[in-house]
Amino acid sequence: MTSTTLPALVPDRAGLAERLAPHRAAGSTVAFVPTMGALHDGHASLLREARERAGDGPLVASVFVNPMQFGEGEDLDRYPRTLDADLEVCRAAGVDLVFAPSVDEVYPGGTPQVTVDPGPTAEVLEGASRPGHFRGVLTVVAKLFGLVRPDVAVFGEKDYQQLVLIRRMVADLCLPVDVVGAPTHREADGLAMSSRNRYLDEEQRRQAAAVNGVLRAAVDGARYGVPAALDAARTELRSALGVDLDYLALTDPDLVDLPDDAPAGTPGRVLIAARVGTTRLIDNLPFTVGGDD
Ligand code: PAF
Repeated sequence: MTSTTLPALVPDRAGLAERLAPHRAAGSTVAFVPTMGALHDGHASLLREARERAGDGPLVASVFVNPMQFGEGEDLDRYPRTLDADLEVCRAAGVDLVFAPSVDEVYPGGTPQVTVDPGPTAEVLEGASRPGHFRGVLTVVAKLFGLVRPDVAVFGEKDYQQLVLIRRMVADLCLPVDVVGAPTHREADGLAMSSRNRYLDEEQRRQAAAVNGVLRAAVDGARYGVPAALDAARTELRSALGVDLDYLALTDPDLVDLPDDAPAGTPGRVLIAARVGTTRLIDNLPFTVGGDD
């Protein structure tokens, strides 16, 4: 549902509540896609999914670079801010309302005293390299859910651990929102779309395709079991020039490590984080031990 007019840009809580009130009164479905902006085709696919789910109801996107989820020395200051282009992506995807608050609007009084404890699943993988990251993510997502009060919210599978934790938060805290995971959007060579891909120079961009190649090797290897999947991924990694591995993990869909003797038919997820130059990339793919057939 492409619109010819730009979505309404709302910077504050009161404006958001006012704009959404008539829709709530009419009992419409409110769909929501939280983002940090720098929108690309991957975000556009999340927005289209959410557009479908909203039906005639409003689709809200937020654009907010959340300081609480960036650690010391991470890219908070240089994170791309491209609001005009983001509004255009939102327009094309049929977004009705873009909530783009300031840091003070989201965190009046600074970092909140009460935050969301993401639990043990946040201590592995991304959480092991980025302490505090998921507390920051879950806290802002809980706040945004409180402000937008969506019926349905769409998140990308590219940030798979984030998706698992958001589902967990919604279940454990009984939040009244339906969380939908949408498949990762990829470039032609398999690289997962990410706002951080724009940090890569030409050569790094070529090298970055190997990150997904490692995952595909693991999925192929998984036809012969978990150890074969790991062997295949490591072999691929040895020929991946310029890719500096942070972690490679084979887990079940809830991010619990898979045992070597996981039987055929066990669903799994292979996850990777690696640096190409100074850019940290993450990706993941689903697989079934023993193959899909
Ligand atoms: O995935 C993101 O862009 C962010 O982590 C999110 C969910 C918008 C929270 O800041």
